Amino acid sequence: MSKIGLFYGPEGGNVERAAKIVADKITTTEVEVHKVKDVDADVVAQYSCIIMGISTLGKHTWSSDNTGNDWDNFLPKLNGLDLKGKKVALFGLGDHIAYADFFVDSMGDLADVIKETGAEIIGQVSDEGYEFNESRAFVDGKFIGLPLDEDFESDMTEKRVANWLKIILPEFE
Ligand SMILES: Cc1cc2nc3c(=O)[nH]c(=O)nc-3n(C[C@H](O)[C@H](O)[C@H](O)COP(=O)(O)O)c2cc1C
Repeated sequence: MSKIGLFYGPEGGNVERAAKIVADKITTTEVEVHKVKDVDADVVAQYSCIIMGISTLGKHTWSSDNTGNDWDNFLPKLNGLDLKGKKVALFGLGDHIAYADFFVDSMGDLADVIKETGAEIIGQVSDEGYEFNESRAFVDGKFIGLPLDEDFESDMTEKRVANWLKIILPEFE
């Protein structure tokens, strides 16, 4: 299997924790972990197997006048990037209690940007076991990637990641 590039942001919080869990559980190939705040988009294009992790911090983080968020700064760099033939798997951190109407929305927004690059998004997840009302990451009856809730369901993260890796790792081969 090719080595995997794992890109995440922000640092120091739940996304970072989850990124470490994901990377630690992949034992069959090398995983190179990058913070999106430290890389340019051409680094993404160096990989054919890509994992990206993001959190949702509300609509304001996606508005054009916000410059403080790692992904806000990184996403424009992906515009125009050609990732045809590459596979991308997404995980998203959210809070299904306080933000049940916007659960892991940013993972859906990130997926929209990735689709424009021509990459194939893999690792869709059933909503079985999740409680939420609305999510922009819920597309055609499935989550576009892996939702994780470290605020209220941290005890489920390890298992959810392990199950997800069973889906995506064979696809990366
Ligand atoms: C200001 C704020 C807004 C948030 N908005 C959302 C939201 O719209 N949808 C959601 O699912 N989670 C939302 N959350 C929950 C975070 O996504 C969750 O706590 C996540 O684990 C944070 O990860 P991070 O610390 O790595 O950024 C919000 C949290 C905060 C503090």
